[in-house]
Amino acid sequence: MKKIEIITRTENLEAVKRVLAKNDYSGMTVTSVMGCGNQISSNKDFEKLNVDMNLLPRIQIMAVVWDEDLDEIVVELQEELSTGSVGDGKIFVSSVDEGIRIRTGERGDKIL
Ligand SMILES: Nc1ncnc2c1ncn2[C@@H]1O[C@H](COP(=O)(O)OP(=O)(O)OP(=O)(O)O)[C@@H](O)[C@H]1O
Ligand SMILES: [Mg+2]
Repeated sequence: MKKIEIITRTENLEAVKRVLAKNDYSGMTVTSVMGCGNQISSNKDFEKLNVDMNLLPRIQIMAVVWDEDLDEIVVELQEELSTGSVGDGKIFVSSVDEGIRIRTGERGDKIL
């Protein structure tokens, strides 16, 4: 299993849900976060002003998917969310060792 974490503009939530639903996933966790990307990296004074990072409201969507669905979902997310403007967001992918459905104790290929 792979964990996909999408950090993006708040208005992109519906687009992310659409991509996940299209790939037959409804399980997700959505968090309101504050975030900062690289937008001030060109500021020459950055090193002196490293307390002045401009944190903006973003959403973080976490979804765990089967390995074989990962590539398609990531491609669709990138295509859906890209405007070409700075601040479109980031997608991070990591491996998930195990999942357990608490109600039934199920593991393995039943969990998602
Ligand atoms: N290295 C990182 N680690 C954790 N979160 C990050 C990282 N980079 C970006 N984020 C999160 O993603 C959000 C959006 O980042 P953003 O799209 O501005 O990235 P960027 O690298 O500056 O790319 P761009 O040049 O397209 O703006 C940030 O507000 C932050 O919440
Ligand atoms: Mg940025």
